Amino acid sequence: MDNFGTSTSTAAASSTIVSPVSSAALSPVSSIIVILDFGSQYTQLIARRIREFNVFSVVLPCTTKLETILALKPKGIVLSGGPSSVYDDAAPKADQAILSTGLPILGICYGLQFMTHHLGGRVVPADAREYGHAEVTVVDETPLFSGLPATMSVWMSHGDHAEALAPGFRVTARTSNAVAGIADESRRMWAVQFHPEVAHTKQGTELLRNFAVDICGAAQDWTPEHFIASTVAKIREQVGPTGHAICGLSGGVDSSVAAVLVARAIGERLTCIFVNNGVLRKDEFAKVQQTMRDELHLNVVAVDASERFLLKLAGVTDPEKKRKAIGNEFIAVFDDEARKIFEAEKSAGEEVAWLVQGTLYPDVIESASVHGPSHVIKSHHNVGGLPADMKLKLIEPLRDLFKDEVRRIGRDLQMPEEILERQPFPGPGLAVRILGEVTPERVAILQEADAICTAEIKRAGLYRKVWQSFAVLLPVKTVGVMGDQRTYAYTCAIRAVESEDGMTADWAALPYEVLRTISSRIVSEVRGINRVVYDITSKPPGTIEWE
Ligand code: XMP
Repeated sequence: MDNFGTSTSTAAASSTIVSPVSSAALSPVSSIIVILDFGSQYTQLIARRIREFNVFSVVLPCTTKLETILALKPKGIVLSGGPSSVYDDAAPKADQAILSTGLPILGICYGLQFMTHHLGGRVVPADAREYGHAEVTVVDETPLFSGLPATMSVWMSHGDHAEALAPGFRVTARTSNAVAGIADESRRMWAVQFHPEVAHTKQGTELLRNFAVDICGAAQDWTPEHFIASTVAKIREQVGPTGHAICGLSGGVDSSVAAVLVARAIGERLTCIFVNNGVLRKDEFAKVQQTMRDELHLNVVAVDASERFLLKLAGVTDPEKKRKAIGNEFIAVFDDEARKIFEAEKSAGEEVAWLVQGTLYPDVIESASVHGPSHVIKSHHNVGGLPADMKLKLIEPLRDLFKDEVRRIGRDLQMPEEILERQPFPGPGLAVRILGEVTPERVAILQEADAICTAEIKRAGLYRKVWQSFAVLLPVKTVGVMGDQRTYAYTCAIRAVESEDGMTADWAALPYEVLRTISSRIVSEVRGINRVVYDITSKPPGTIEWE
């Protein structure tokens, strides 16, 4: 039996706004831990840490109705951290009745203050905000700390702290200046002021396991093989014995894993559409088709629409206009192909009724969050605009999963590592890496430079260590010499960043030797580039892409 992985990358944006509750209700496992989200930036991490030891957990907004929470029959509840003070008018409102269900509860940071405040204790603002590493000493044994050392290095982030505990509670852990852990075992309530979900808290996962497995008695049955078996069965039932589905492939991990899962359920009745938008990487159109057909045995309709896209891109220099042009054209091409498949099935007496999308759990959480979606969802992610008469229903087989779990599922499905470990690639492709106008000549130049960059990063064993690494073509010509010839050609920038989720990133300190090889190969092998520079800007203030 395999475990879900522990990597920390998260997902790209997607578009569907839906309640996470319905999918959790259909979850293929026997035990659920519910995490109520009070708005902490770390809430998703709590779910991922708990899932690492194969216990299924879902994140719900703290405003979720008690009956909705109880309908999931959770084994226990975690109250997350949050940026507010319990006294703030803007503090998210949760039903206090959650504290009297009799279910085991673990409060984290704001969760501790919420419990203390609503159960009759007193929370006061701290003199100084405590943020960062702290040493915590266990001062009283409790099952939550079972097997953990007496002193732990933890991650703190809070302003308020508990001055007087609620009746029945006792202090279980302290830092040098504050209460760090409390418990009332008779009511099955525990809380910590630090963040066990953050990697800096070394024993955090064990603490969460003590809570979920030992205290709550949750079964550790959230495994890839269970997920695959139950998801395939569910899709088979949804789609029925004759139903057909279509799926847009990008060549990336999410759409590929989604397609393979659906194909396991309905085989040839899934048709995948893969569009060449003219700004893919070198040979990508052919390679992806080959992998999808020969290795994944998917039924693929490949559409080479590069000319259509490049025509739309002619003369466009504004980055957002490029994105719009590509997004709109993608929808048009996808719709054309979907309609052809739809009509063909119809004339054969069958009907395409389903559209497969690779929506991931972070998007589901974001869209249901108390604060609303926190990042802009980029328009070209949508396959929206499908002709209304097609009335397609959605299948989103990955909507319960984090990105690292998608990779684990892909591995269990025996999909090639090349797809599973592929670095993120933006929907508008090389168009946002060719500054200024995108022309066929510039696309060809950048494809060559990018292929060299990728090959050398892979050869140095760095491809999986960096979040993204790529070449950017600048519309700047500089003077150079080659042999006896003076050259006047484009500049190419190399960008490599390390990141957990693409939201922030550090420029990667690539070894000089790797940079040297990339640079000399590009200048000598790519006609049209005579200068290579390296981008040493982190995000923020820079972005990862140049446009
Ligand atoms: P930025 O440039 O905003 O990129 O720091 C963050 C992550 O998002 C990817 N990205 C995009 N992905 N369509 C996409 O599908 C886009 O328009 C787009 N712009 C940026 C980028 O590659 C990085 O992983």
